[in-house]
Amino acid sequence: MARKRFIAGNWKLNLSLAEGTALVQGLAKACAADPRSAAAEFAVFPTALAVKTIADAAKGSAIGVGAQNLHWEEKGAFTGEISASFIKDTGATYVLIGHSERRQYFGETDQTVNKRLKAALGVGLVPILCVGETLPERDAGRLQDVLRTQLTGATAGLTAQQLATLVIAYEPVWAIGTGRTATTAQAQEAHAFIRSVVRQAYGALADGIRIQYGGSVKADNAKELLGQPDVDGALVGGASLKLADFAAICAAAYA
Ligand code: PGA
Repeated sequence: MARKRFIAGNWKLNLSLAEGTALVQGLAKACAADPRSAAAEFAVFPTALAVKTIADAAKGSAIGVGAQNLHWEEKGAFTGEISASFIKDTGATYVLIGHSERRQYFGETDQTVNKRLKAALGVGLVPILCVGETLPERDAGRLQDVLRTQLTGATAGLTAQQLATLVIAYEPVWAIGTGRTATTAQAQEAHAFIRSVVRQAYGALADGIRIQYGGSVKADNAKELLGQPDVDGALVGGASLKLADFAAICAAAYA
């Protein structure tokens, strides 16, 4: 089954409104200049306060916009939180769920990931569900164990129809921001395993699910990673903050 490659830039707590606007407009221009770019999908994930500004700046272009997190409650006394419908209202299309930095620093669990996923799907946002093992987990031979637990916990109770819109990002925690990318073989092995877990639960639908690789993706390793049969895109952190670098990674998905 043909899967459209999807390159996403996670800006984390970086880029001002002006910097983000310039970057997304530059990226939109680069895509518009090359008709081959229509073969792939692109999105950026600014800080919550910049989502609307960047979504406005990207309107009418090939670049989608998403938020980096959401709260599962729709509204109410939840100081400091943002909900799925507020994100949707800004013109955003996507949302990251369960990034390892949320899990490590902000107490995210598979149960809260599950609630957030359901809230995102409930308003029609496309969630990118992040999963991945730490180095001690990998070294202890627990890679498959960890991925299976994260995936089944996150998707508990989702219908096949809901699952069909989901994007999964495999991000080995030891490769995030470290400059230490997974080898293509390690990425392919984990991606194939993730697809097999989805297949066990949802059957052939698994063949249509896009699985991005994330963790020190750069312009010079993107092509090789994207060449693996089960790698359908990239979730890019550091290298998505500079137009030239991110545009080169995006181009690796179609050129
Ligand atoms: P990195 O981040 O590309 O800077 O390693 C990836 C991510 O956290 O999504």
